[in-house]
Amino acid sequence: MSPSTPEYWQKVYDEEPRPGWDMDGPSPVLAELLEAAAIHGISAGGEIAVPGCGFGHDAAELARRGYRVTALDFAPPAIEGAKARYGDGVCWRLDDWFATQEGPFDVVFDHTCFVAMEPARRRDYLDVCADRLKPSGLWLAVLFDDTNGRPGPPFQIPMDKARNLAEAHFDVLHVQRATQSHPRRAGREFLVIGRKRK
Ligand SMILES: C[S@@+](CC[C@H](N)C(=O)[O-])C[C@H]1O[C@@H](n2cnc3c(N)ncnc32)[C@H](O)[C@@H]1O
Repeated sequence: MSPSTPEYWQKVYDEEPRPGWDMDGPSPVLAELLEAAAIHGISAGGEIAVPGCGFGHDAAELARRGYRVTALDFAPPAIEGAKARYGDGVCWRLDDWFATQEGPFDVVFDHTCFVAMEPARRRDYLDVCADRLKPSGLWLAVLFDDTNGRPGPPFQIPMDKARNLAEAHFDVLHVQRATQSHPRRAGREFLVIGRKRK
């Protein structure tokens, strides 16, 4: 089964009620990414999309920080789990990022959604991110350049390749190793900030 289908992810959630990627809370690098983005004009109150939101930890944290958040996932257990954990305050959507009509947004917050894509879909995925953003909107991403040799997802991507792909739509403002990663991910994840070209 292909990770491009909701059935693939449904099966993961069926087999693992708490999948291995789930940290039972927001990513420790969420704050680091927002701080890095602050100098590029991100401000609380803006509209943020969280594609592939899983159980919604990052989305709920962004809402707590004052953003208006729409969080999408195409796997029903993800959205059900997010609603059960966090209730209202986030606009939860059972939706495929490649087909969504939500937006436009000021920011796309991308934590383990890009890297969940099969590499052949990366360009299309970034096309959608750019399409769903307002002019000058920001793509904030947490990506992996080392997945311990395991087959994806998540699919690793070197930092320079991520930059090259993003440059199709974005002025790349920041590509740096994360410094506040969860110990399980230390030294293996990096942060990207791209500003959509008008
Ligand atoms: C590795 S999980 C990460 C979940 C969450 N971001 C986290 O870190 O806890 C990837 C999630 O992306 C979702 N996903 C994958 N492709 C998607 C698509 N095209 N549209 C919406 N959700 C998608 C999957 O259902 C899954 O819940």
